[in-house]
Amino acid sequence: MATPTTLASLIKAEELAAVQRPELEASNLPPHYYWSPEIYELELERIFLREWICLGRADEIPNVGDFFTRTIAQESVIVVRSAPDTIRAHSNFCRHRGCQVVTETAGSAKSFRCPYHGWMYALDGELRGAPEFKETVGFQKKDYPLFGVKVEVYEGFVFVNFDESAEPLAPRLTDTTIWGADLYGMEGRRTTHRWEWQLDCNWKAYVENFLEEYHVPWVHPVTFQQVVPMKSWIDFPDISTQPWELQLAQQPEYTFSTSGRPLFDVDPALKSLPTEYAGLPVWCVYPTFMCLPTVDCTLYYVAFPDGPEKTTVMMRLCFPDAVATAYEQGDPEIVGKVEEYVANADEFIAEDNHICEVQQAGLRTRRGGTGRYCKHEPLVWKMHRWLISTAYGAAGNGGNGAG
Ligand code: FES
Ligand SMILES: [Fe+2]
Repeated sequence: MATPTTLASLIKAEELAAVQRPELEASNLPPHYYWSPEIYELELERIFLREWICLGRADEIPNVGDFFTRTIAQESVIVVRSAPDTIRAHSNFCRHRGCQVVTETAGSAKSFRCPYHGWMYALDGELRGAPEFKETVGFQKKDYPLFGVKVEVYEGFVFVNFDESAEPLAPRLTDTTIWGADLYGMEGRRTTHRWEWQLDCNWKAYVENFLEEYHVPWVHPVTFQQVVPMKSWIDFPDISTQPWELQLAQQPEYTFSTSGRPLFDVDPALKSLPTEYAGLPVWCVYPTFMCLPTVDCTLYYVAFPDGPEKTTVMMRLCFPDAVATAYEQGDPEIVGKVEEYVANADEFIAEDNHICEVQQAGLRTRRGGTGRYCKHEPLVWKMHRWLISTAYGAAGNGGNGAG
C-alpha cells in the first residue's frame, strides 16, 4: 500500500474538487488515475475488497457440488452450491500452507481436496481431512475451515463481498423497480453463452465506456447508431442515491436481433412499461456489474481489474429457460435466432473492447491534463464522484492517509 505521502502527491484535493463541480462545469479525472499503481492498489483495498462484486449466475451451478472460481484483486474465490438451496463462497487457499485448493475455473465436486498435501474440505468449507496431523499439538480441524466470503444472490446473479461488515446488497437495489428491473424475469433466465477477454485497459475505462452514449455514433456507427442512435438514449443521473445507475436506449422492446425487434415471446408486463423506461436498460451496479436486460434476453458483463492497465472482462448471455432449453436441444429455428443475437453481440462488443484499449494507449501519457464532461456523460461524472467518496476522498491532500 502506498504511503500517505505518495498518495497525497497523486490525489490532489483541487483535482477532486474540479470533478465535484456541477457536471457541465466539472473536469474529468486526470490520466494518471488510469495507470498509477498506487491508485490501483487503493481501489483494490477500498472498492474491490469492500464492495459487492458479481461473479456469475446461480443457474451456472444448478446441482449440489457445482462450482466456479473467479479472482478479484488477486483473491481467488470458489462459488459453490453446497446444498440444494444454498450457494456459498470460500477463499480459494488452503489453511495449511496456502496452496490454491481448486485450480479449475468450473466443475462439480463432492468435496475440495488441496493438491499439495491432501487436506480435504467439505462443500460448506469445513476441514474434514488433514493427513498426518494427529501429533500436531492442539490442532483441531474445526479451527481451519476455508475462509468464507459473503454471498448474496440478486435476480439470479451471484454477488460476493470480502467485507464481513458490508451492508447487504438487496436493500441497495430495491429501488431498481423504478425502471422495472423486477419485470424482466432476469432470475428465470439461463446462461447460454460465455465470453472472456483480457484487455489492455484500466477497469474504469471499461466501465465508463458502458456508462455513456456519447461514443455511439463513432464507435458503433452501424451496430447501434442505425437502430438506436445516440439521440434516442437517455441518462438518469438522479434516479437513485444508491450505488447503481441507468441509461436507456429509448426504443420499446429493443433487443439484440438484427432488426432490434424481439424474436422470442415478450412478457405482457414488459409491454406496459411507462414510455420513459420502455427500451434497452443499460444498468450498472457499482463498481463493475454491467447489465443489459432486454425484453427477451439478458446480456451482462463484469470487469475484473488485473493490474493498473489490465482488465479481464467476462460477458454472458442468458435466455428465458424455455428458449435456453430449446437451444440446448438443437431446435433449428431457436438455434438460428439465438445465433443472430450472439453474432450481433460479438460485433458491438468488439467495437467497445477495441476503443477501450485505444483510449488506454493515450491515457498512458505522463503529461497530465484533464478533459471535460459532455451532456451525454452525466453517468461517467456520477461514477467519478462515487469513486471520490468511496476511495479517493480521504487518501489525498488533506485526507487522513492511505487506510
Ligand atoms: S497446502 Fe494444502 S494441504 Fe498443504
Ligand atoms: Fe459502446
